[in-house]
Amino acid sequence: MLVFDSGLGGLTVARALRRLAAGQVRLDYAADFAGFPYGDWEEDALKAHLVALMGRLLQRSAASVVVIACNTASTVALEALRAQYPHISFVGTVPAIKPAAQATQSGVIGVLATPGTVRREYTEKLVHTFAWHHRVVLHGARGLAALAEEKLRTGKVDGEQLRREIAPAFVQAADGAHTDVVVLGCTHYPLLLPELRKAAPWPVLFIDPSDAIARQALRVMQQARGRKGAAAPLQVALLTGEAAGWTRWELVNLLEGEGFGKIVMLEDA
Ligand code: DGL
Repeated sequence: MLVFDSGLGGLTVARALRRLAAGQVRLDYAADFAGFPYGDWEEDALKAHLVALMGRLLQRSAASVVVIACNTASTVALEALRAQYPHISFVGTVPAIKPAAQATQSGVIGVLATPGTVRREYTEKLVHTFAWHHRVVLHGARGLAALAEEKLRTGKVDGEQLRREIAPAFVQAADGAHTDVVVLGCTHYPLLLPELRKAAPWPVLFIDPSDAIARQALRVMQQARGRKGAAAPLQVALLTGEAAGWTRWELVNLLEGEGFGKIVMLEDA
């Protein structure tokens, strides 16, 4: 199985996969650091980029299941990827609006995602289908994914910046109803969960979809192969470039710690 993201947010899904199927699935990881962040890309350009990049990744990974562990990519390119690579089972990641609609008591839901994801027709359809009877506040956070990567690198988070990034998702309506559920609509954000809980202006339920995505990916994998497949000792991380702000050593260290014993730079491979 290949887990793909623009950066390191997909590790939240890779970790969940490892928790749920430790040793039973060979997991490769791909990070498109050369394209990160996806949040501000124009829609057609991002779609074309993802379809082309997937072809290069599939030459390096023998995966039959690819998890697009990125809301920004899934909401724009899932259909195009399925059409272009019909032999691959793609599992997408889209904002968890349906569970949020079921969980809210106040009827006010916040969605934190990238500016790209909140603009998508796909996201609008999710709101209309599952949460039409609630108030849904979509907030495109510009720097939150980068803050999550920064936390992975340094262990630190700028609390003030975090508060500013999330504030618009928290609202109090004229009738007094408050946001009580916040969807983490970008795979980077669960990396910040403890800090998000502290920075929230009042307690809310944060919906972290990592486990649900991992379970879905494992179901698809079983259907695709009829069995879970043998674990391979060396799991590969495929990178399209350097991660901004990271030394090669820091990145290798992190990825090895996550279980990726071999790191391949696409341009040198
Ligand atoms: N992790 C990606 C997502 O789930 C977005 C990060 C970015 O590239 O801006 O949307």
